[in-house]
Amino acid sequence: MRVAVLVSGSGSNLQALIDHARSDPVAEIEIVVVIADRRHAGGLDRARAAGIPAEVVEWSAFPDRPSFTDAIIASAERAGAEALVLAGFMRVLSSAAVDSFPIINVHPALLPAFPGAHAVREALAHGVKMTGVTVHFVDELVDHGPIIAQEAVPVIEGDTIASLHARIQQVEHRLYPEVIRAFAQGRLSVEGRKVTWKRDG
Ligand code: GRF
Repeated sequence: MRVAVLVSGSGSNLQALIDHARSDPVAEIEIVVVIADRRHAGGLDRARAAGIPAEVVEWSAFPDRPSFTDAIIASAERAGAEALVLAGFMRVLSSAAVDSFPIINVHPALLPAFPGAHAVREALAHGVKMTGVTVHFVDELVDHGPIIAQEAVPVIEGDTIASLHARIQQVEHRLYPEVIRAFAQGRLSVEGRKVTWKRDG
């Protein structure tokens, strides 16, 4: 499956996907383009280092969300992508994107708890003992679509945002490639909000 990976930040999840695709002898996933909404996203360097085309569709260059979204769709379509994989992409796309591609996102909390851009900080501030990782299909609402996989991460006494996020990311880096692989193999089926995994092989 040919995927476009969208990033805004350092791109450690992108790196996990690149490493997974490389280590898989029958790689089901080909990352055909990495698209960032800002010039200085570290994910762009990771893409270039891996020989993957890297493009910038700068948020500030567009008058509104629909025109920004159209530019992202055009870039992914030019690269021949069949799906969008969001890996720390901090922009909300308009519904045209959902109409054009299946889209998958990774979120650093157990949705529906703590949606939005500050999930780790908010979970810590709320005093939860358990948070985690959610991988979900993207729909028209933010951090809302059908949940594909979740894994819990305990909050430890003395955790800071950074220490908790680092443990969450360890889980993301293992779980996200697994989910994208299952998706590429056609093993995920969605009915309403419910995602069912078909067995491997
Ligand atoms: C991840 O924790 C992801 O869950 C969230 O943004 C972070 C991106 O990290 N959406 P990276 O850019 O993949 O390192």
